[in-house]
Amino acid sequence: MKKRVGILTAGGDCPGLNATIRGVAKALYQRMESSVEIVGIRNGFSGLIHCDYMEMEDSDFSNLLTRGGTILGTARTPFKMMRVVEEDGIDKLANMKNNYAKIGLDALLCLGGNGTHKTAHLLSEEGLNVIGLPKTIDNDIWGTDVTFGFHTAVDIATEVIDRIHTTASSHHRIMVIELMGNKTGWLTLYSGIAGGADIILIPEMPYDMNNVVKAIEARNASGKSFSILAVAEGCFDLEESRMKRKDWMEQRKKNGYTNASERITLELPQITGFETRLAVPGHIQRGGTPSAYDRILATQFGTYAAQLVENDQYGVTVAMKNNLIVSNPLGEVAGKTKLVTEDCDLISVARRMGLSLG
Ligand code: F6P
Repeated sequence: MKKRVGILTAGGDCPGLNATIRGVAKALYQRMESSVEIVGIRNGFSGLIHCDYMEMEDSDFSNLLTRGGTILGTARTPFKMMRVVEEDGIDKLANMKNNYAKIGLDALLCLGGNGTHKTAHLLSEEGLNVIGLPKTIDNDIWGTDVTFGFHTAVDIATEVIDRIHTTASSHHRIMVIELMGNKTGWLTLYSGIAGGADIILIPEMPYDMNNVVKAIEARNASGKSFSILAVAEGCFDLEESRMKRKDWMEQRKKNGYTNASERITLELPQITGFETRLAVPGHIQRGGTPSAYDRILATQFGTYAAQLVENDQYGVTVAMKNNLIVSNPLGEVAGKTKLVTEDCDLISVARRMGLSLG
């Protein structure tokens, strides 16, 4: 019997999406030959809601290993809106279920991050045969040691920190680098260590400005005329960490900044007298070709997902645990975030190195 397999990519793009799609397709064709048909759903769940899809064939999956972004297109369709009928009158959940049947799908593969996994779980609970694949530069998906896209972003962010070293030392400046990662500090912690940042600030460990200043002054006293701060976009200080999100956001707006990195860049020269600059690499961290590590991980994840389809194992997401590719129930993953914890090895490394974590 033929199986029709739908693939979609949702949420922010990242390197390795196409390599994963390729891994899924090549392994499906290899194992199931003409008894499999692949359907590409355009622009994430939006494509399923609007029945926007394309029939795909073997040749569509060539030359994808090194290609950044996603050939299927992506969109953010927030999970919290999935059950809400908005002004357009579209019942998104009903449409997704109807279109799954209309397209004749036997399985749906959802490549995405935390939001995607919540919707994938919802669809699975509604009776669809769903498999998740963990994508994100934030590395914050519960139950997997690593997500594809993360290590490429670490490589890019590390290069940013490397390059900033030369200008920081030439100008004897403090350089604040704001790194992505949403509400988690994985990307900042890894690239901060790899790039030799002096101070690493992450959302999981609210910072105290006094400690930041102390670290800079200690470097200065030891003859180092510059300092590099790797600051995660989701950071806040101790005082803000005790406030409601709405309140600290309002306070920041009043003070003329949105993110901790901007605030630190404003405050440091006033406190220390050192010239300070902010660098925000932004979406560059998600762009371009995947690293060798991510190409391998994407191929491992993709081919494993193909095996799950062949064996009719649904309601799960692919993961890596202790170097082995496994699957986790969607119900265990959806709605959870993998945070950096105090017992994480790289936190111990940072402390052993004498780095300031604020
Ligand atoms: O989840 C990936 C990510 O790049 C986060 O690190 C960042 O906070 C967010 O997406 C940015 O979203 P957008 O591309 O919608 O601006």
